[in-house]
Amino acid sequence: MEPVKILDNIYWVGAVDYDIRDFHGYLTPKGSTYNAYLIVDEKITLIDTVKHGFEGELLSRVAKIVDPKKIDQVISNHAEMDHSGGLPEILKYIGLEKPVYASKVGVQNLGAQFQGAGLNILPVAEKLSVGQQDIHFVETRMIHWPDSMFSFLPKVGVLFSQDGFGLHLASPQRFDDEVDEKIWYPQALNYFANILTLYTDPIAKILEKAVSSGLIGQTKIICPDHGLIWRQNPSRIVELYCKWVQQKPTNKAVIVFDTMWHSTEYIARELTDALAILGVETKYQSLKNIHRSQVVTECFEAAAIIVGSPTINNQMYPSVADFLCYAKGLKFKNKIGAAFGSYGWSGESAKLIQAELTSMGYNLPSPEVRIRWVPLEKDLGPIHDLAKTVAEAIKKVV
Ligand code: FEO
Repeated sequence: MEPVKILDNIYWVGAVDYDIRDFHGYLTPKGSTYNAYLIVDEKITLIDTVKHGFEGELLSRVAKIVDPKKIDQVISNHAEMDHSGGLPEILKYIGLEKPVYASKVGVQNLGAQFQGAGLNILPVAEKLSVGQQDIHFVETRMIHWPDSMFSFLPKVGVLFSQDGFGLHLASPQRFDDEVDEKIWYPQALNYFANILTLYTDPIAKILEKAVSSGLIGQTKIICPDHGLIWRQNPSRIVELYCKWVQQKPTNKAVIVFDTMWHSTEYIARELTDALAILGVETKYQSLKNIHRSQVVTECFEAAAIIVGSPTINNQMYPSVADFLCYAKGLKFKNKIGAAFGSYGWSGESAKLIQAELTSMGYNLPSPEVRIRWVPLEKDLGPIHDLAKTVAEAIKKVV
């Protein structure tokens, strides 16, 4: 387990998790990394740790640079367990008396998470000396939790951004110049859509302040807690964040559904084709095959989300309810919604979806489309009318 040199005296000492596939309900098809960093100065400083179970990997990388027991202090930029879970074991090894610095909220969160572990958790001031240079701290509430903060080394322009600017990608490569954008871009979008969509307003304010204060201008390297270190072109990921926080709709519709005996599937296929003929980019997303977190990534930049379900036991399909629950939590902005479904007798599903999309604040330009039993040629009219109405609504917002 080797460390990776970033600059003289700054190293990546994290862990690579090739096997993780479920990250609090979000599918991570390419695994992830838990990035931690070591600053070797008069005070040896560890920035963040790793998920519990990966402490040995971190310590063995540190040991290639310096005896881990010589670490003087730890900065915890974010209290979530994928970065803080290793704190108790690591501090037990390097010395429980060593200070762990965190934001004020971080002190509370870490204290609550690790009650009885004997950690010496202290709030950060504006800056902290490591010897020849200072670490400056910037509160970044809601990238990704209320405790989150950035740590910045102005002398060398290195920003430790914890979850901010991260992505889930396990690989032996550590830097943006070693991985093609075609590989990392989908993971960065997937990460933003699933983890940060809910917080686009506070993130927009943080970005604005980071730009106006000169923090972004001074930054030469961004070191996030997941994925690649941005050393060749850090402004690329910052530009993407500045775009994504706006949640601007594009000429795209996602048709997301589940089906029992193929009737709802038939409607979904007809809608997909009809919208495509009307010039809308369409994404056909069957919840039988596609994970909810990948569907919301498709939804992120789409103007319209069209949701379909058969009726079962007077309800919508559980997989559709699961998707709507997940999407509701993300509070997408600027979305057009529509509902459809097939049924045999009671037929509640499409109405329930319509009500849910309304409660999510979507603009619903059409009543729901419900088709009894198997759709026939005579049933296509309402499906095509729905496609036309949605296409027209999309044109008005893109
Ligand atoms: Fe990577 Fe919010 O933790």
